[in-house]
Amino acid sequence: MCGIVGYLGNGNVYDILIKGLHRLEYRGYDSAGIALVNPQGALGIYKTKGKVDNLEAYCVGKDLTAGVGIAHTRWATHGEPSDTNAHPHYSEDGEIAVVHNGTIENYKVLKDALVKHGCKFHSETDTEVLVQLIEYIRLNTGCDLVTAVRKAMKKIVGAYAIAVVRKGDPDTLIAARQSSPLVIGIGDGETFLASDATPFVEYTKEAVYLKDGEVAVIRRGEPLKITNLDNKTAEVDVHTLEMSISELEKGGYPHFILKEIFQQPGTLRDCIRGRVINNGDTIAVSGIIDNKEKFLKARRIVIVACGTSWHAGLIGKYLIQDMCHIPVDVEYASEFRYSNPVLTSDDVVIAISQSGETADTLAAVKIARDMGAFVFGISNAVGSSIPRETDAGCYIHVGPEIGVASTKAFTGQVMVLTLVAMAIAQLRHTLTQEQLSNLGHAILQIPDAVEKVLKLAPMLERLSLTFTYAHNFLYLGRGYSYPVALEGALKLKEISYIHAEGYPAAEMKHGPIALIDQEMPSVIVAPKDHLYEKIVSNVQQVKARGGRILAIVTKGDKTIRNLADHVVEVPPMPECLSPIITSIPLQLLSYYIAVNKGKDVDMPRNLAKSVTVE
Ligand code: F6R
Repeated sequence: MCGIVGYLGNGNVYDILIKGLHRLEYRGYDSAGIALVNPQGALGIYKTKGKVDNLEAYCVGKDLTAGVGIAHTRWATHGEPSDTNAHPHYSEDGEIAVVHNGTIENYKVLKDALVKHGCKFHSETDTEVLVQLIEYIRLNTGCDLVTAVRKAMKKIVGAYAIAVVRKGDPDTLIAARQSSPLVIGIGDGETFLASDATPFVEYTKEAVYLKDGEVAVIRRGEPLKITNLDNKTAEVDVHTLEMSISELEKGGYPHFILKEIFQQPGTLRDCIRGRVINNGDTIAVSGIIDNKEKFLKARRIVIVACGTSWHAGLIGKYLIQDMCHIPVDVEYASEFRYSNPVLTSDDVVIAISQSGETADTLAAVKIARDMGAFVFGISNAVGSSIPRETDAGCYIHVGPEIGVASTKAFTGQVMVLTLVAMAIAQLRHTLTQEQLSNLGHAILQIPDAVEKVLKLAPMLERLSLTFTYAHNFLYLGRGYSYPVALEGALKLKEISYIHAEGYPAAEMKHGPIALIDQEMPSVIVAPKDHLYEKIVSNVQQVKARGGRILAIVTKGDKTIRNLADHVVEVPPMPECLSPIITSIPLQLLSYYIAVNKGKDVDMPRNLAKSVTVE
């Protein structure tokens, strides 16, 4: 949700910033812009609607020499996508330029006050209010720019990660954060900053994650200085990045999402590694073992998440209730935070977020901790906010997910939730050793089973041709397959723009069955599990109304094969592990349909990967 990049050093500032913007484009692609201060101090600002490619085309022939620069790729919140609303924004006197990720909630009040003082605004953005406020303070109090930034931050309500440069000063870059991510890369005589570490991982592995309420001052030839808003010096805590550059490239695939779908055997192996030990007999999840008293006394578990992560959370409910007999509620983080939640210190809250930065999930984490619950995070992005704000947690270790639609993170989340459920069951003795070992052994087979499912890609590509021109889809499943149906429908919606509804199969007859006709295919997730006979009758109900059916079934299934128009067979799996296997054909189906329709599958319209605003 908006990406920002900054660079100060002797490298090619423009090239580094543009490359960084491409890496952050998954965060938003409504517009892009760059501000450069050249060695003589001139400030050049270039910005344009659309993707970073448009910005590059726009910059041809411009003076792009610089000692310091900042850049931005936008996901529009305040004001439509346009050249004017594109960042960087600048003060009326043209002295300072700012890029911003986040939202300023009190921008209207601040804007009205600045207008009364004679400030003129060009854009509809909240960010322009911020830059004008900083400059107003600087001019009217006579303070330096860093002090003005600190003072402005104290007046702002909302979320921000900002980077600031000033005309006439090619040697200084200022950054600040509150609730939006910002990481600083420390190189040899050069310093980077960005919304995540991907823009600078090839230049340095040393990263400092700025904390809420901190201001960083980066000056040429001086060590990085971090203070709080009261100008008290804060610790510069340097982390070593483990990311590699190959993780950020397509590696021969036409799209990141396809690469990520095909990476799943490997990502699942990474996710399991060290956690399913003794040949599958023991589950070792350190965040559970280290906090075992919290899980032993837990009376209730509340899972909070958004989007795909929420679907993984729904599977987590089935897993934990089945294996641990602890009641589980699954809440959309955006609803949870405003629902007057009732939590006690006997509750455990599990927050799931690929990015670790989703604003609603982060807010839910803070509320839960304030209420005394023990909060366990499940994230992918190492060093992101949710892992830092939770009491304990577990990374899914699937590597950077660049495709905006989540695929490998979903299966990683479901795998970690399975391990979490098993680890709790191991502690509470709600599964026998035999049950645990059987599941442990089956988990070790999952990466190979996923490899087999991926071999179905050519078949799904052919099948996708049959379905590309449908305008509506119904996705149905029961039990563990119900959240898989929801996730399959979401994948189709977001990358192909085809309307799709996910439904519990038995609920269909309470309304959606009215929609069924030849024109609306039903995708039915129907592996052999304890609800199999029930879903067979749901398949018959769709068939009886002339609906076309694509069913995901267990290998060897004859009953549904005789009813459905098309079947996709997946390897047999214990019921609780089936979602990891059945979700993969649905990812491939959505991918191929979207490609057939010529859609931008890695950057679907209106979306951003990391939703750092409400
Ligand atoms: C869908 C998708 C989104 C995210 C949601 C939460 O493919 O990617 O629905 O799942 O925005 O994001 P995280 O998991 O980063 O909190």
